Amino acid sequence: MLRTNTCGSLNIDNLSESVTLCGWVQKNRDLGGMTFIDLRDRYGITQITFNMKEDSNLCEKARKIGREFVIQVSGKVIERSSKNMNIPTGEIEIKATKLRILNPSKTPPFTIKNKTDGGDDLRMKYRYLDIRRSSIKDNIILRSRVSSETRKYLDSQGFCEVETPYLIKSTPEGARDFIVPSRINQGEFYALPQSPQTFKQLLMIGGIDKYYQIVKCFRDEDLRADRQPEFTQIDCEMSFVEQEDILNVFEGLTKHLLKEIKGENLEEFPRITYDKAMKMYGSDKPDIRFGMKFVEMNDVCQKNNFVVFDSSEIVIGINVKGGASFSRKEIDSLTSFVQSSQIGAKGLVYCKCNEDGSFKSSVDKFFSQEDLNNWADKCKSSAGDLILIISGETKRTRQALGSLRLHIAEKLGLKNNDVFAPLWVIDFPLLEWDEETKKYHAMHHPFTAPKPDDVEKLNTDPSIVKANAYDLVINGCEIGGGSIRIHDKKLQKTMFKHLGFTEKQSQEQFGFLMDAFEYGAPPHGGIAFGFDRLCAIMGGQESIRDFIAFPKNNAGRDTMIDSPSILSEDQLKELNIKLEK
Ligand code: AMO
Repeated sequence: MLRTNTCGSLNIDNLSESVTLCGWVQKNRDLGGMTFIDLRDRYGITQITFNMKEDSNLCEKARKIGREFVIQVSGKVIERSSKNMNIPTGEIEIKATKLRILNPSKTPPFTIKNKTDGGDDLRMKYRYLDIRRSSIKDNIILRSRVSSETRKYLDSQGFCEVETPYLIKSTPEGARDFIVPSRINQGEFYALPQSPQTFKQLLMIGGIDKYYQIVKCFRDEDLRADRQPEFTQIDCEMSFVEQEDILNVFEGLTKHLLKEIKGENLEEFPRITYDKAMKMYGSDKPDIRFGMKFVEMNDVCQKNNFVVFDSSEIVIGINVKGGASFSRKEIDSLTSFVQSSQIGAKGLVYCKCNEDGSFKSSVDKFFSQEDLNNWADKCKSSAGDLILIISGETKRTRQALGSLRLHIAEKLGLKNNDVFAPLWVIDFPLLEWDEETKKYHAMHHPFTAPKPDDVEKLNTDPSIVKANAYDLVINGCEIGGGSIRIHDKKLQKTMFKHLGFTEKQSQEQFGFLMDAFEYGAPPHGGIAFGFDRLCAIMGGQESIRDFIAFPKNNAGRDTMIDSPSILSEDQLKELNIKLEK
């Protein structure tokens, strides 16, 4: 070993010890008689001192060392005269007796500090330098701990870790596939898996009754803060189970992780049906760290000659605690927010509940003080609160108010990242009608089983069939999703038929699975957690990017290795791929 200790391990208990440390130079201060180097490694920072009077050669050498040089220093642990109680090593320093430059460094393109001057592009291009910053390094270490605790829990529950292939077959469901050309089967292509879904079901048929894998998945879709083209799932499947069993085992996993990683002891997770989530929060992934539940107000808002409300299918309000103090300008900006093209509401009605018991609304012309008092009663508002109302067609109105609810929570600082508010959303619809393609889509995926009592309705009114599907939501983020699966060929065929597949297409695409169902497929079900999202939530952040060591940028590029990139003529020729000029 080139070192006896790390830069984060020494403290007052180590006084007088002779040690050797290795690391990167965070800072070099030359004060004439003394030179101070802050030496950093993964574990912390230790101050090294060089004294001109005691060893001028060594001190001269130290003076010349630049930021990010990699050095090895030997010396004695001594007590500092001016202590820094903010860091664990802040009471000591190393009085250097030996210094070796292991490798010099160019001046880094941005400062290696938590508050760096490097923009996103620069940080991505020099990601290895970015990883030296504690804010990224700590996320990566957290990720490693989450993965090790996941394995510990699932192993203790008797799960067996199995790897499934990355070179598989393209299927038209879900997102777009990433495609890999086959050299030895020219004109044919592999696809990278969007998830190991069909393989884990085949493992159940193979008798591996509790499977898991921490696995890369690939989806060619538009990127967002919580989406990467390659991301990781904790993918799980169990045989001989019902929905209740899966919820219990994976609530157990979530509780285990939050306890071990965050020291949180969580109560039983609430459960809410999809229909109720949409009705109360306008979202299938409600953030329940704060209130502002929806109040349907048709009965107190309609039939008052206010045509906007009267002509609406639904009138919904939320109560913003303390919101009566919002200025005119603030309310105008909320109105602009809901009217923006991505939210698409026509307008926003407000009613302030004044401290003196009176009301001030944007529709005073149509509603008396008594009417507004009824609104306040309905919304359980008190003096100082603000009622905000949107009306219109049910689905869009709920979605718009759902977005406004989150926007206000952000504005009021209600999204406390130290709080963890998980819940299960259950009873999802099996199918979703898509107006554009005039087809049903599987709301979860085509292998999800309908609720047993609803199977008959598949033939009469598929749109009302509920699925044995569930999502785990934490702080408004969809952390995981799963379902009980179809394990019967006939039902699976019916499902494909509803999704618009011809018999030939479903046999071509998924014949291998349906054929396997005929060889004793056990009842089974499972779930997959978005591992990157889980880590980001535990790290108190919304973006997953800094919880992935080498992520892609918003254009799906890795600017450090410069990919994707073009292939040489020879490579293309070997694959028999001709590019149009
Ligand atoms: P689903 O498609 O819901 O289910 O994915 C499971 C979880 O993976 C995460 N996730 C993502 N994370 C980062 N970037 C992405 N592009 C991305 N896409 C999804 C989410 C999501 O909840 N095979 C099924 C699971 C099952 O039924 O068992 C599946 O993949 O957190």
